[in-house]
Amino acid sequence: MFSRITGTGSFLPGPPVSNDDLVHRGIETNDDWIVSRTGIRCRHLADQGETSSDLGLEASRRALNAAGLEASDLDLIIVATSTPDFIFPSTACLLQAKLGNHGATAFDVQAVCSGFVYALAIADKFLRSGSHRRALVVGAEVFSHILDWNDRATCVLFGDGAGAVVLETSDQPGILATALHADGAHHAILSVPGGVSGGRVTGDPFLRMDGQAVFKFAVRVLAEVGEECCQAAGIASSDIDWLIPHQANIRILEATARRMKMPMDKLVVTVDRHGNTSAASVPLALDEAIRDRRMQAGQKIMLEGVGGGFTWGAVLFEF
Ligand code: UT7
Repeated sequence: MFSRITGTGSFLPGPPVSNDDLVHRGIETNDDWIVSRTGIRCRHLADQGETSSDLGLEASRRALNAAGLEASDLDLIIVATSTPDFIFPSTACLLQAKLGNHGATAFDVQAVCSGFVYALAIADKFLRSGSHRRALVVGAEVFSHILDWNDRATCVLFGDGAGAVVLETSDQPGILATALHADGAHHAILSVPGGVSGGRVTGDPFLRMDGQAVFKFAVRVLAEVGEECCQAAGIASSDIDWLIPHQANIRILEATARRMKMPMDKLVVTVDRHGNTSAASVPLALDEAIRDRRMQAGQKIMLEGVGGGFTWGAVLFEF
């Protein structure tokens, strides 16, 4: 038994916000610096009151529509997010209520920018075990809500959005291999080191990052986990038709492609228009490449995530 992606959807809030728009909002930066260091030209930013479950709802409706299913058909809902609506209940339960599903298994996965890859690999294991048949897997984030807009080294990098896939059991492949890893020893290089206690915010509620340490770590593990996933499926990296790494920075994508000996035209790139949308970046890019018909039936596609924790992972599937 395999699990297969049968529908995808995505959603971006509001109009694109360009690098120059950020300058006009008073951030001490410029388009040249952002484009040359990151490849980012614009991003979408949610309103203050717009939540991850709101964005996830739009993406999920589109994915269900593409799969030809109703929300009531789902028996599993997993939301990958590091910007949940509440401490609890989970964003997955809030999304479930908005969709009008009653009774499906629903929970969040917290693996930061690897979250969607983690969630998809987990859903694959549920479906292959025979316990569940139709899953909705969502990556939804409002990182703009946890950015320190006075820290130009981080606030220009991120954007908001959501992507979703419907995964169903099938006797045809399907997801071919998955690999998930973490090493908490590196927790301090990318974190939001705050919490809530006694009715007050404790620690620091904003995203903090050692950019250069993250850069080096990401490039190494994305290449390694890609190779591991290929070996698990018994294929060479040259057999991959499309690679969708987490969209953090064009220089990370280029370095990963070089290490995996893949031409850049096999990569799906959205970081220029979306910025880094954390757990939403991979399903947003996947939905774009499926809807513009770049991806054809029978092709092999690899998804890769890397993010805070540190966490990293990959999912290889046949479309
Ligand atoms: O999901 C994972 C998320 N994280 C990432 O993807 C981050 C990976 N890291 C990176 O992409 C890069 O490290 C950054 C793009 C974040 C930074 O690039 P860098 O080449 O490592 O720059 P830097 O931090 O060493 O800063 C270089 C200079 C500094 O000025 P001085 O000290 O050399 O005068 C910064 O103050 O760039 C300055 N700078 C900026 N200038 C204009 C930092 N941010 C900005 C900015 N605009 N937004």
